[in-house]
Amino acid sequence: MRRTVLVAIFALLAFCGSAFADSYPSRPITIVVPFAAGGPSDAMSRILAERMKLSLGQPVLIENTTGAGGSIGVARVVHAAPDGYTVGFGHLGTHVANGAIYKLNYDLVADLEPVVLLPSNPMIIVSKNAVPAKTLPELIAWLKSRPEPAAAGTAGAGSGSHIAGLYFESTTGVKLQYVPYRGTGPAMNDLVAGQIDIIVDQLSNSINQVRAGTIRGYAVTDDKRAESAPEIPTTDEAGVPGLHMTLWSGLWVPKGTPKEIVAKLNVAAVEALNDSNVRKALENLGLQMPPAEKLTPESLGDWQKAEIAKWWPMIKAAHVSVD
Ligand code: MLT
Repeated sequence: MRRTVLVAIFALLAFCGSAFADSYPSRPITIVVPFAAGGPSDAMSRILAERMKLSLGQPVLIENTTGAGGSIGVARVVHAAPDGYTVGFGHLGTHVANGAIYKLNYDLVADLEPVVLLPSNPMIIVSKNAVPAKTLPELIAWLKSRPEPAAAGTAGAGSGSHIAGLYFESTTGVKLQYVPYRGTGPAMNDLVAGQIDIIVDQLSNSINQVRAGTIRGYAVTDDKRAESAPEIPTTDEAGVPGLHMTLWSGLWVPKGTPKEIVAKLNVAAVEALNDSNVRKALENLGLQMPPAEKLTPESLGDWQKAEIAKWWPMIKAAHVSVD
């Protein structure tokens, strides 16, 4: 008798879970962006959300939950209900570097379910126009000649722009004074205004300002020029060989989110990435689409683990203080 009751209870739970997933989504979905509006994470999320809502049949809203290099926004997702209505946007900084810098109250791998890998882009070294340098070697010489370290805008300790700055320091010997913002959108406003000196920024965030001539671009951290910015040399061409960094992004949901719901979100994101208007908007920002075979949830999970293994030793060796 007892066994029969238990079997019936498990069957009912399975039915409810399946029925819940079948009816998903029945209300708006929130994508939590861990950086301020106006930056590259925010821009990509809004472009994708506009197209994902067509596939999901519900509004897809953007919530900017900022601070601590993006780790506050990630925590918001980790502790949300695993029901598919709270989705986290993140990237190399938030879902790899943060784990090497902060004492997080969550595990970046164990407490999240990967949904899909999103487009990536190289970083670009940019400065305010008042800097008296026209090439990367001239910029490096200027940075080294200063009595005080130059002010480098970032999106906070552990953000992509911060990790890129550390990497730039370690490969060139320059010293930077980091100025944290809630995202590289606000940091860019201060760079254009001349309030800070440089940013090692996502190409997608700087490309339009470089094109407009409101800031100066020196090199992209890649071994090939960006198709959307062919006039910008690579770091290899500009005299700093091997300074390569690609900032990739992705979507995650809380651990325990039903697989059927993860699959529905994955399909909606992939349909957005395959939409010609979305691709055109993202590629115009210098973003590169992930290959089709990398678009499964498992691929993002494997990629994140590989990137943790790659970057944590360098980041930990930098002994970054977040106090
Ligand atoms: C970063 O530097 O981590 C991001 O570019 C910040 C942002 O998206 O605003």
